[in-house]
Amino acid sequence: MREDTPSRTAAWVAAARGLGRLLPREIRLADDPFGAAFTSLALARMIEEAASDIPPSTSLATALHMIRSPLARMPGLQRWILYMQVRTRVIDDVVRTFALQDNAQLVLLGAGYDCRALRLPELGETRVFEVDHPATQGHKRRVLDKIGYTSPSTYVTWDFETQPMDDLPAALAESGHDPTAPTLTIWEGVTMYLTEPAIEASLAAIRAWSAAGSQLAMTYFARGRLARPTLTTRAIAAVVARVGEPWRWGWVPDELPGYLEERGLVLVDDIALADAARELLPLDLARVVDDADRRFALAATPESIAVIER
Ligand SMILES: C[S@@+](CC[C@H](N)C(=O)[O-])C[C@H]1O[C@@H](n2cnc3c(N)ncnc32)[C@H](O)[C@@H]1O
Repeated sequence: MREDTPSRTAAWVAAARGLGRLLPREIRLADDPFGAAFTSLALARMIEEAASDIPPSTSLATALHMIRSPLARMPGLQRWILYMQVRTRVIDDVVRTFALQDNAQLVLLGAGYDCRALRLPELGETRVFEVDHPATQGHKRRVLDKIGYTSPSTYVTWDFETQPMDDLPAALAESGHDPTAPTLTIWEGVTMYLTEPAIEASLAAIRAWSAAGSQLAMTYFARGRLARPTLTTRAIAAVVARVGEPWRWGWVPDELPGYLEERGLVLVDDIALADAARELLPLDLARVVDDADRRFALAATPESIAVIER
């Protein structure tokens, strides 16, 4: 992350969530009316106009042609939009289930422009804490203000690389997080950008604020994606490095259960998002989400396994 610059990758993933509104309603997996505004208010307006005008069953390619932004012509955009649909839906489903319990809390670690606190009515009274770099969080708050929304989230600013992660559980508690109540921590699209010490320190902090019944939902790269990148992956890696957010970290999937166990967490589920795409999208669209090295994992504090398996 660059010290004074809001995360560009956070804007790209949020824009892809916003562009998902161009998919016909019957196959849309997640609806994010806020996402595009963090890239530009003009883009958000164009999506709203196009989305309200699209005849049913219009293909995504045709719908994208209705958007007059250069972003809509980006190579690989359809794949990115569909991937973000799947990733968002998989995590939304975890959130919805978790929020059914009393006293549930949500920590969005590296929240970026995630607007679940505004998007998901199922959160009800669930308290949401958003932790992110000051530059990104500042931009988020300014944009929401501009478009006239106040998020019910509690904001905590933190730099995972330069501030001691040991202090984050106490900072959360000072902001109202209850360390004795179950917490779902969402670490979405963040692990790949962190150094190994920040990964270790973050996991120790997550474990520290995770009471019995807590879960960790995270996305990660299989290490092979970084060690043996395809041409496309190399091109994307170059772009994210150029904006100051290089990819740094991945896990070997077979090693993840043992790795997490050593850090006090039990792996409950670990899937390639390409496999989730086959369960969630029509086959012709699922085929587009073909990268087996982008994964989702769900872990839990050992005390909460019995609850999850019921
Ligand atoms: C790709 S974005 C994902 C955002 C969000 N979780 C989502 O999926 O929409 C990565 C996020 O990690 C945050 N991040 C990366 N490095 C960070 C650091 N050292 N300290 C704090 N936040 C950081 C960025 O600000 C950004 O919001």
